[in-house]
Amino acid sequence: MQDVGRLVVVSNRLPDIALPTSGEDKRNQPVGGLVSAVRAALEERGGLWFGWSGATTERRLAGEPTLTNSGAINVGSLNLTADEVNLFYSAFANRTLWPLLHAFPNFVQLRHDAYRGYRRVNHRFARGLFPLLRGGDVVWIQDYHLIPLGHELREMGWQDRIGFFLHTPFPAAEVFSILPWAKRLLNDLIAYDLVGFHTQRYAHNFLDTLQVEIGGRVEPGVFHGPNKSVRAGVYPIGTDPAQFQRWARDSDDTGGLGFLQRLLPRRTTERKKVILGVDRLDYSKGIPQRLRTFEALLDRYPAIRGKVTMIQVSAPSRSRVPEYVQERERVDRLVGRINGRFAEADWVPVHYLYRSYSQEELAHFFREADVCLVTPLRDGMNLIAKEFVASQGPDPGVLVLSRFCGAADTMQDALIVNPYDTEGTAEALRTALSMPLQERRERWNALNGHVQTNTAKVWADTFLADLTMRDAPQLAGSAASGPSS
Ligand code: G6P
Repeated sequence: MQDVGRLVVVSNRLPDIALPTSGEDKRNQPVGGLVSAVRAALEERGGLWFGWSGATTERRLAGEPTLTNSGAINVGSLNLTADEVNLFYSAFANRTLWPLLHAFPNFVQLRHDAYRGYRRVNHRFARGLFPLLRGGDVVWIQDYHLIPLGHELREMGWQDRIGFFLHTPFPAAEVFSILPWAKRLLNDLIAYDLVGFHTQRYAHNFLDTLQVEIGGRVEPGVFHGPNKSVRAGVYPIGTDPAQFQRWARDSDDTGGLGFLQRLLPRRTTERKKVILGVDRLDYSKGIPQRLRTFEALLDRYPAIRGKVTMIQVSAPSRSRVPEYVQERERVDRLVGRINGRFAEADWVPVHYLYRSYSQEELAHFFREADVCLVTPLRDGMNLIAKEFVASQGPDPGVLVLSRFCGAADTMQDALIVNPYDTEGTAEALRTALSMPLQERRERWNALNGHVQTNTAKVWADTFLADLTMRDAPQLAGSAASGPSS
């Protein structure tokens, strides 16, 4: 790890260590790839992590950030008013940018007041953060909530390096241009020294969109605009595989039937096969499609009934946003329908757990699952796929992976599926359930090789090495290829 000066990470969401809500009901704690990867990357390096406290307060109290410590990490948290949260987070981040970046144009809401609220909150982030910065700090801003923040800091006079990483996909230009503020946000992104993406495709889309909206010239990994250039690179995020392996191994010590088997009602002591899904409850994750796939499997292959159980963990997320309320209802209905159709006195096909689990608990789930279904309709990376692989033992389970998530780029030894294709995915599921041990081991070895070498720490180290490199735009992460023009 090269010495790059103090690291200052900024994200909307902070880890639960800093939230005033910590200690409250764990069922409602947020989960997400960003927080787990950034935490893994910052814990070793130390530095400042700045973000929203997660609390809403009255205007007069939403002033200065609060500073606390968590081991090597100093945490600066900012309170927002209910009005700010509504416009910035619930409306613009969750109902405009999220569906836009995941290419769900029909869900994109265009509200000018929400856009103005988004910019105001970004300005407040800059005002809260700027006095905490020291010369030589390396500022690394995370995700779509904070696109304008780099530009705001520049306006206040910050001259040292600022990087930005987008944890979601970046869509094709036709989709991004739906946004009336596309040009402005692209200009905000040009204010950074380096913009990072999970895949070549997203970086390519970004460079292409810059050309379409702003003009200028693209060469590999660099956009030269009329007034400023920006570098774009590819840094696939990872997890902390050693930690997951340690947690998962603990679950082997429980003796007899393991953690998951004890959770399930038993027909006999014979081991039932477990298909596992773990997601935030988000329409981009394709949970209804996944349930329909399982239903199709039970319909087509009656011999499987009673022998296989699906456990779907859905962590509550953005539960005040109407599209998420509807998605939850859709999932509730489907779980009810499948269990209503197939359950017997001693077997329930779908165990639906609408709550969050800690990563340690999830490692136990992963260890014992025979199949992990990671089948988003669209997903920037998806760390569940990597955490599942990292948690496996000598009798590894099978990863069934959507071709529409960033993880599919580098995890081709999974069974790759198209989650929109119910029948095709059901067949892949059947293949996964009956895959012989040798093939499971071979696939797992290949996947695990990738997971072990592309960790959260490597992700951060590579991005920061490129960000702090002086002069030459030669990127250690792979330079984004430009659109052919
Ligand atoms: C995704 C986003 C993160 C976000 C997380 C959880 O992973 O890329 O920025 O923090 O979802 O969503 P939430 O709205 O609860 O922060």
